[in-house]
Amino acid sequence: MIIGILGVGHLAASMLAGFLHSGLDPETILLSPRGKATDFSARYGFRLAADNYDLVERSDVVILSVRPAHAPQAVAGLPWRKEQVVVSVCAGVSLSRLEVAPARAVRAMPFTASEIAASPTVYFPDIEQARTVLDRLGPSIALGSEKDFEVATVSAAVYGWAQDLIRNTAEWSSAQGLDPAIARRLTAMTFVAAGRLIAEKSEPMDQMLEELVTPGGITERGLQVLSARGVPAAWEEACTAVLDKLTGPG
Ligand SMILES: NC(=O)c1ccc[n+]([C@@H]2O[C@H](COP(=O)([O-])OP(=O)(O)OC[C@H]3O[C@@H](n4cnc5c(N)ncnc54)[C@H](OP(=O)(O)O)[C@@H]3O)[C@@H](O)[C@H]2O)c1
Repeated sequence: MIIGILGVGHLAASMLAGFLHSGLDPETILLSPRGKATDFSARYGFRLAADNYDLVERSDVVILSVRPAHAPQAVAGLPWRKEQVVVSVCAGVSLSRLEVAPARAVRAMPFTASEIAASPTVYFPDIEQARTVLDRLGPSIALGSEKDFEVATVSAAVYGWAQDLIRNTAEWSSAQGLDPAIARRLTAMTFVAAGRLIAEKSEPMDQMLEELVTPGGITERGLQVLSARGVPAAWEEACTAVLDKLTGPG
C-alpha cells in the first residue's frame, strides 16, 4: 500500500515519525513537494511526488494534512479513483466539503503523540484502509457518526491543555527548588498514570475519585481551591467553545 501525504507540516512530521517507528518502509510513503517534504525525503528516504496530481495518481491512501482553510481547495481537481481512501486530519472540515469522489473520505484526529505511536486517534467512517494506517500511530477509535467525531475532536484540544498543565506544574515545582528535569518527568508521568489507570479499569470514575480523595487530605484541599476559582466550570466552557469552533461556519 502506498500512503501519500498531502501537506507536509508539523502534524505530518509527527505522523511520519510514527510510521517509521512502526516499521513502515519509507519507500511506501509519498510526499507532496512542499513544506518539510524535500528535507524529510533526503533524510529518511520517503518518495517525493512531482505535484499533488502525481501524488494522487500513485497513492492508495492519501492523508490530507494541510491547514483547514486550505483543505477544500487542496483536494479539488485531482485524479481521485474509486478504490482510494482520503484520510483528512484537518480540524473542523466536514466530509461534505471534501470533493474527492469517487474516492471515499475519512476524517481522523491524530495527536502529535503519533510520533511515539501513542496517539488515540478517533476517525469516521470506519474504513479498513484508514484503520490500517491509523493503527500505526497508536490505538485508533472508530466513531459512529460525524457528530460524534466532532465531539471527540475536542480531545485534541484537551491534549494541548494537559500539556500546558504539565508545563505549569513542572515550572511551579522547579520554582520551589525541585530539579527541573525531575519536575518535568514526575509531572508528565503523573498525568500518564492518572490517565492509564482510568483507561485500564472499568469502575465508575466517581467511585475511583471517592476512594482517592481522602476527607481532609491534600487532594481534597487542592480541589476546593480549584472549585472556588471556577476551574470545573471554566473547563466545560472551554470544551464547549472548541466544539462551537469546530462545528461553526468556515
Ligand atoms: N499540529 C497539530 O498538532 C495538529 C493536530 C491535529 C490535527 N491537525 C490538523 O493538521 C492539519 C495540518 O496542521 P499543521 O499544524 O501540520 O499545519 P502546517 O505545519 O502549516 O502544515 C501544513 C502544510 O501543508 C502545506 N500545504 C498547504 N497547501 C498545500 C497544497 N495545496 N499542496 C501541498 N501542500 C500544501 C504547507 O506548505 P507551505 O508551507 O508550502 O504552505 C504546510 O507545509 C491542520 O488541518 C490541523 O487542523 C494538527
